Amino acid sequence: MSASNPKTSAEKLNWSPVSWRNFPIRQMPEYPDNEQLDKHFNELKQYPPLVSSWEIQELKAKLARASRGEAFLLQGGDCAETFADCTSEHIVKLLKVLLQMSFIMLHEMNISIVRVGRIAGQYAKPRSNSSERIGALEYPIYRGDIINSYDADEKTRIADSSRLIEAYHKAGLTLNFLRALTEGGGFADLHHPEYWELDFMRKNEYYREYESMVNSITSAIRFMEGILPSELITLRQVDFYTSHEALNLYYDSAQTRKVPHKAGWYNLSTHMPWIGNRTRHPDEAHIEYLRGIENPVGIKVGPPYDLGEIIQIIKKVNPSNEAGKVTLISRFGKKHIEEELPKLIRAVEDEGLDVLYSCDPMHGNTFATGDGIKTRAFNDILFEIRKTFEIHRDMKTILGGIHLEMTGEDVTECVGGANGLSTNGLKNNYKSFCDPRLNYEQSLELAFLVAKEWKKFKTEESN
Ligand code: PEP
Ligand code: CO
Repeated sequence: MSASNPKTSAEKLNWSPVSWRNFPIRQMPEYPDNEQLDKHFNELKQYPPLVSSWEIQELKAKLARASRGEAFLLQGGDCAETFADCTSEHIVKLLKVLLQMSFIMLHEMNISIVRVGRIAGQYAKPRSNSSERIGALEYPIYRGDIINSYDADEKTRIADSSRLIEAYHKAGLTLNFLRALTEGGGFADLHHPEYWELDFMRKNEYYREYESMVNSITSAIRFMEGILPSELITLRQVDFYTSHEALNLYYDSAQTRKVPHKAGWYNLSTHMPWIGNRTRHPDEAHIEYLRGIENPVGIKVGPPYDLGEIIQIIKKVNPSNEAGKVTLISRFGKKHIEEELPKLIRAVEDEGLDVLYSCDPMHGNTFATGDGIKTRAFNDILFEIRKTFEIHRDMKTILGGIHLEMTGEDVTECVGGANGLSTNGLKNNYKSFCDPRLNYEQSLELAFLVAKEWKKFKTEESN
């Protein structure tokens, strides 16, 4: 395992933040007005960074620990943030549920939980089709608020580069509020587990265990608050990082900068960009961009994929095999996991590549109901997580994280869970413009079940 090697940085490899523009690119519509695009790109280049290089380095070190089983990555948030979701309520609810999940996991697993939101920049969506029929007309597909508008008319579905600027502003507002909530110590829900809404868990077979865990977290917090001077209560400050899919490379590359006294280039729009399953091609624009930055990066892997290409990508993005640099996020779905994941792990291990293995149990498990509503079943999600733990145990590798599409709101987008949301209930509060998310209750329940699973394998290991 070698440390970060500045020699592998951009200059040596003939890379620049915009070298991706010389490569074929997927999932990016043409902007119709190049002059406007240049204007907005240059404007974005001048704005102050949203995150700092030292936060990015700190996260990379934590992900390295997770790859060794000393910490666990909890990454989650909306499939796609919308500009309209940039509200106090939406942000607080997501932060609250992620913090609660991390407390549950910390309590059960006894290792530090690395919290990374899909937030403050998750505005772009890869799509399977480039257009859709609405009524009698065919429109360009909605690609996320950073590119076009969900409202369908001929104008608003056209890619509009002024949205790059709006995305920056919305991300900045979101981050500013997140920082206030996590650094100021004023976030009451963090200190009062008794505010957690637990009634729904009554229907879960683990309710008693769950309730006693929350009581024990409450006592631990009370105890700490009682004996430590307030400046020393570490709960007053919690670590929270951001991530988004680096899909609209104009946005990410305009915010990719050099920083004083450090080698290399940093994407300062987010801590952890990732590349999606549809854009991870070794000789194309997205991987070209990714290979030049110092941030830790995620790479999604699901069907269809070519094993040789995945190995090539990892080597390209992380030539010095730096720990914490690459998080390999498998998303095979319950149908393919048993056959595909062992092959992927074997290939990565045979090459001696240092990656953090994380599991996205969402994207391989989407299906449409009879009414054509896109959903996911809680049990399928759980199945993929359990299988992933099992496969890693059998192969003597470590599952060090999960990647979820979730929200702190009471939406009805995924079926199942302790409350047994049925397909009939999906219409009650289905809000997502893209993929279905776990709601507040489903997210907490899943965190608890993931922690139980993790413990089960730990206990087997030590026997
Ligand atoms: C996503 O994470 O929202 C997504 C589209 O995932 P994938 O690239 O794995 O399909
Ligand atoms: Co999604």
